[in-house]
Amino acid sequence: MCGIVGYSGPNNSVGPIIEGLSRLEYRGYDSAGICLKINNELQILKKEGKLENLKELINSQKPFSNIGIGHTRWATHGAVTTDNAHPHGNEIFAVVHNGIIENAGTLKKELQAEGFQFKSQTDSEVFLVLLTKFFKQGNSTLKSISKAFETITGNSAFVIMEKATDKLYALKRSAPLVVGENKDLREAYVSSDPFALVGFAPKIYFPQDGVICEGTVTTCEVNLNFYELDLTPSNRYKFQSNSMSVDATSKGHYEHYMLKEIHEQPALIDKLAAFYIKNEGRKVLNELKGFKCDEWHLTACGTAWHAGLVIKNYFEQINRQRASVDIASEFRYKNPILNKGEVGLFISQSGETADTLACQELCKEKGIPTYSIVNVEGSTLFRNADKNFLIHAGVEIGVASTKAFTLQALTGYLMSRAMEGTLDDSRLFSEIKLLSTRVAELCSQAESIKEVAEKIYTQKGFIFTGRGKYFPIAFEGALKLKEIAYVHAEGYAAGELKHGPIALIDESIVNIAIVGPELLEKTISNVEEVKARRGFIVIVGPKNHPEIEHLADAYIPLDFNGLDNLSPLYVNVALQFLAYHIAKLKGTDIDKPRNLAKSVTVE
Ligand code: M6R
Repeated sequence: MCGIVGYSGPNNSVGPIIEGLSRLEYRGYDSAGICLKINNELQILKKEGKLENLKELINSQKPFSNIGIGHTRWATHGAVTTDNAHPHGNEIFAVVHNGIIENAGTLKKELQAEGFQFKSQTDSEVFLVLLTKFFKQGNSTLKSISKAFETITGNSAFVIMEKATDKLYALKRSAPLVVGENKDLREAYVSSDPFALVGFAPKIYFPQDGVICEGTVTTCEVNLNFYELDLTPSNRYKFQSNSMSVDATSKGHYEHYMLKEIHEQPALIDKLAAFYIKNEGRKVLNELKGFKCDEWHLTACGTAWHAGLVIKNYFEQINRQRASVDIASEFRYKNPILNKGEVGLFISQSGETADTLACQELCKEKGIPTYSIVNVEGSTLFRNADKNFLIHAGVEIGVASTKAFTLQALTGYLMSRAMEGTLDDSRLFSEIKLLSTRVAELCSQAESIKEVAEKIYTQKGFIFTGRGKYFPIAFEGALKLKEIAYVHAEGYAAGELKHGPIALIDESIVNIAIVGPELLEKTISNVEEVKARRGFIVIVGPKNHPEIEHLADAYIPLDFNGLDNLSPLYVNVALQFLAYHIAKLKGTDIDKPRNLAKSVTVE
């Protein structure tokens, strides 16, 4: 989704802003812009399309400005046009915005009736106009920001610069925002993502909702001051040193980030097992020993929701504890039944997904403890949770989530084993080691999966099927394929096909059937039903199985032996490769698929 980077300091702001925006490109956007102060005037440069377009415009002018704010926009209100791109500005202020102003329509009409003009169709410009109105009424900049913020509804983050000073202002409500400083270089930074500030701001601060941060750079120092909306000083912010490394973001020798991230999985699986069983992570897992709750409410979106479905099976089958899994955008509006004695478990790579955060908020309001399985330490989900189970996946750049899924599900498995009190069972470590070994084997044999992709990539539709523990993997396999290859793909429980979807089957449809060792005969019967209707059959199943070899038009043989609970994670990696190769053959933008954003920070 949208990205924000701002700078004030003695150097040219263009470099760090463009570098920061490039790092946020993976999140998805459709236009980009920057506001600089040149000859004491606010000058806005913006362009539709890729950041490259903005860079070309900047290079043609070679501007120098000690202060600037930049933005990559993912359109919500108003089409993808240069006018709608951010920053929005006038002769006094310039503003960038992430999120949605829900009452923008009403406010805009009122402001227009008062004679204010608008240059764009965005909700964001409403904030600029409000701010300007309050300022012209004689309020200070801080007061005007606070009044404008109190007038709007919805979840948003804003960064503001003004013509009169070199100050940066930032504030937010349920949207990601981080401010940073480099004391030695006298530089102040602001962003929607700490990753943009790596290598620039060693100290970073996360202001809470409704806290205004004012970054002031003088000839001798940089100061970050925090204020409540009534302009009294605030201590409602969290400090963190920015320890991330920029190297983590290179593609290395891989053609795509997605491919690199799939290949990272064996090492990350081993690392996570060591962290939670042998090292620091053991402490938080030990707290779960013997833990029981009346019901787990698992909530997440997309791939993280699929990981939730896998984890639900662990909690139910291993721990015999009730677990419900909801899509966050449904849970938040369904007036869920939440009682004392239950726990909310929120799963998210980014920790910034708006719907997931809203569910966490809802559980907090109802007095239910909130736990997270999350990748980004310091994210909003992380900061607001009572207990965090980090997945330690490192930065995931590919929009299609791969390694995060595996590590989310594995973390859930470790939680389940911790509740059971079997973390010390030496078989657990070996079992996870076996998973990483099998995934590594898959990585080295991915060429054979490419051959399967070559046979099917031109087909019209794809139905992924699985039973029991593989049912969530059918969903995840289909999601991966549709998001990066832009083909129609659905996941179904294998036994459900004959209740409707089988009507779709003809020779243009591929059935990617996950046939695990459990319920093997029944699953094979389901495949036979598709075959009888001329569907193209791809079986992801146990190796050395003559019946499967005979039945399948294409076969991805896997070694399920000994994997038991972890086999769904293994099968899923095969489907990640399959989706990747189909997308590559189709020539899509694998790392940044159309219409998608890495982190969905609006509802
Ligand atoms: O950051 P989150 O894990 O909360 O994101 C949730 C979904 O938006 C995400 O998993 C999405 O479905 C991915 N593009 C799937 O590959």
